[in-house]
Amino acid sequence: MAINSTGLQPGQGANEGNNNIQGQLSSEVRDALSLISLRCVECLRLYPALEAGRTPRYRCDCGSVLDVEIAFQLPSRRAQQSGDAFFRLATEQEHMPAAGAVWRQIFDDRASTPPIWSISTDKLLFDYSGVWRYRDLILPAPERYIVSRPEGNTGLYPVGIENCGAGRAGHRQLGIYAGLERFFLKHEGENPTGSFKDRGMTVGVTMAQMLGAKAVACASTGNTSASLASYAAQAGIESIVFLPAGNVAGGKLAQSLAYGARAVQIAGDFDAAMSLVEQVCNEQGIYLLNSLNPFRIEGQKAIGFEILQQLDWQAPDWLVLPAGNLGNISAIGKAFREAYQLSLIGHVPRIAAIQAGGANPFYRSFMQDFAAYRPVQADTIATAIKIGNPVSYPRARRVIKACDGVVEEVSDEEILAAKAMIDRAGLGCEPASAATLAGVRKLVAAGIIKRDELVVGVLTGNLLKDSKTGIPQAVTGEAIEPTLDAVRSVLLQ
Ligand code: F0G
Repeated sequence: MAINSTGLQPGQGANEGNNNIQGQLSSEVRDALSLISLRCVECLRLYPALEAGRTPRYRCDCGSVLDVEIAFQLPSRRAQQSGDAFFRLATEQEHMPAAGAVWRQIFDDRASTPPIWSISTDKLLFDYSGVWRYRDLILPAPERYIVSRPEGNTGLYPVGIENCGAGRAGHRQLGIYAGLERFFLKHEGENPTGSFKDRGMTVGVTMAQMLGAKAVACASTGNTSASLASYAAQAGIESIVFLPAGNVAGGKLAQSLAYGARAVQIAGDFDAAMSLVEQVCNEQGIYLLNSLNPFRIEGQKAIGFEILQQLDWQAPDWLVLPAGNLGNISAIGKAFREAYQLSLIGHVPRIAAIQAGGANPFYRSFMQDFAAYRPVQADTIATAIKIGNPVSYPRARRVIKACDGVVEEVSDEEILAAKAMIDRAGLGCEPASAATLAGVRKLVAAGIIKRDELVVGVLTGNLLKDSKTGIPQAVTGEAIEPTLDAVRSVLLQ
């Protein structure tokens, strides 16, 4: 297996790594990364984005995970002296109303760029992308390194009893099922590879380009690997994916292989694959692109920014999403916090994370007020979130505490029932995504989410990802004779 393609010798660990990729960095990359720091989520220790003489850092020396901190600067101000505190992100929860209007105008202008290829290709890609449109708040990457499809711009569907148009009785069934008057579903399955992972991956693979990585890797329940393989192929970088054997839906495995990833099937669960890939990447100098990598989280923040923009910068009361490795809740929570600090919005939405009952370590910890955390042996029909030891637990715990959020669990039966509703409404999603609707229904029934609150639920993956679980397999009946009589008799049955 050609995993040593960065030139590192086996045995060179994270701290002794000597692949010297920083030595090859251009001055524009160095300048861009000089705006960025990495802060430990637990002990708050601060690291520079670049550390001489070592492989990229994914963890604090204390072992916990890291968050990206960017000195946000308005595009026109970037050339100016960086001491312009007014437009920088405040570290406390402080509100800067004037800055909010300026930022909204920038993002609205970019969103109105018409997708016509006769204008500058790069400008179109970056303004039209639902990730790079917010680049000042995500990664100030030099344009020539950006790897984008473009991604994002996914549908935000009004499905509530009140906000669903009269001509869409099918969609309104979802509002009735949830018990909500004003309810939207954000379909992230409409991204280029069919899941929200593309938003993190465009940023992750762009970072790989900036760092000059020759190979990238991840462990995955399927969607991350499909996305990694696609973006790495676009960039011409080798990709290696560690998969829990027998636990990846067919469509996702097919994508990863078709896009040219080297698939390493692990006879173990996702958690085992995750632990292995982290060690291998540190040892071999391969760039790790799980959400442990804080730049993946930065890209996924764009789900939050795009929802806010689609709601004309009105923050919803609740954001509900399925939770597995806890990267996405960390990302959207960070986006909402930063949007509030920049006065893009007037309040921070509450977040509800929904776990499968058989893969619920976050839920269990929440029920004890986060006093303890214990990994579980995961078991659920929703393979995408079949994760027992989520890497981003400290990030996600902080998000739930800060936004007065909740964590709920739903059974596989509740997931499949909600999936049937979403499918029959014509939207469709993969099983893990349906945890969102199952969770909303449960939280409304319990009175935690109020019937008249504005709620956005995230559908994370496309129906076609998993063509087996929870959808009808057989076309009804035998093939019939190609005659009108035969058709009539079938329809009249
Ligand atoms: N929904 C889908 C469809 C997913 O693929 C995942 C995660 C999640 C929800 C949960 O998001 O991990 O950020 O809490 N899939 C990862 C993967 C683990 O490898 O594709 P999370």
